[in-house]
Amino acid sequence: MESVIEEIKRLKKEKNAVILAHYYVEGEIQDIADYVGDSYFLSKKATEVPEDTIVFCGVSFMGESAKILNPNKKVLMPDHLANCPMALMADVEKIEQVRKEYPDVAVVCYINSTTELKAHSDVCVTSSNALRIVKALPNEHIFFIPDENLGRYIASLVPEKHFIFNDGFCHVHKSITKENVLKAKAAKPNAKVLVHPECTLDVLELADYIGSTSGIIDYATNSDAKEFLICTELGVLHQLEKKNPDKKFYSVAIRQLCPNMKKVTLEKVRDALLNEPYVVTVSDEVRMQANKPLERMLELAK
Ligand code: 13P
Ligand code: SF4
Repeated sequence: MESVIEEIKRLKKEKNAVILAHYYVEGEIQDIADYVGDSYFLSKKATEVPEDTIVFCGVSFMGESAKILNPNKKVLMPDHLANCPMALMADVEKIEQVRKEYPDVAVVCYINSTTELKAHSDVCVTSSNALRIVKALPNEHIFFIPDENLGRYIASLVPEKHFIFNDGFCHVHKSITKENVLKAKAAKPNAKVLVHPECTLDVLELADYIGSTSGIIDYATNSDAKEFLICTELGVLHQLEKKNPDKKFYSVAIRQLCPNMKKVTLEKVRDALLNEPYVVTVSDEVRMQANKPLERMLELAK
């Protein structure tokens, strides 16, 4: 009898499908994916792959972004309830209010956001390109949505611009505290501290490196250090350990897992290909509006 993995491989060929997976999904899902990466890599890859069907192993904003950028492709989600809570943590009324107050403002929307929020924004960013894009914008005023921590981190690197913040956050990264990191550092004094910019500023201040999931993996892989404290979701350990069998990686807090990313299972990937229960749909009108900031991101991040 065929195993689930064999079924996935067969169905993928039969349906001319490609599997994209984020670093936070379970390791066994990353292993069957055609491409694994951070949010920027995956949204760019979605525009480059020749297959006409994409199975997106991640959370809903990732599948929606792939669909917005590729309206002629079919985007399948293994679990339609895998949502990023931060994606909803901003509102259109506030955007309109800020636009009135600062007519030349650029609304910079972290890709971890709903399609509606993107549709009301000027440019999208991810953690790996936000700095480059904010610097490249001609605008003096920046309204950064929805993540306050990433916004404040970027603002600290671009002091010449005026930022307006929004109070969104990621509960997974918020659960990593300064005290956790100091305690872990006391236990492993030689370990380098690698931090995702969704963490709070007091945690970022303790970092040896701050970057996206792929930035963290590249940093550890290229480093001479042998021990690392990982301040992001622990799905990254799969690639970190695969690429660096001689190095040691440690978590710092007890809730470093994103329950939504972990909803993706091998059986759901198989069922997504077999029965297509969750096909991403975005209405043409909203899609056209949301496509502009995403395309602008791809352009400015080049
Ligand atoms: P990256 O873009 O760094 O992969 O981050 C995505 C994410 O959801 C972080 O919580
Ligand atoms: Fe959203 Fe946080 Fe999960 Fe990333 S880790 S998908 S920001 S809840």
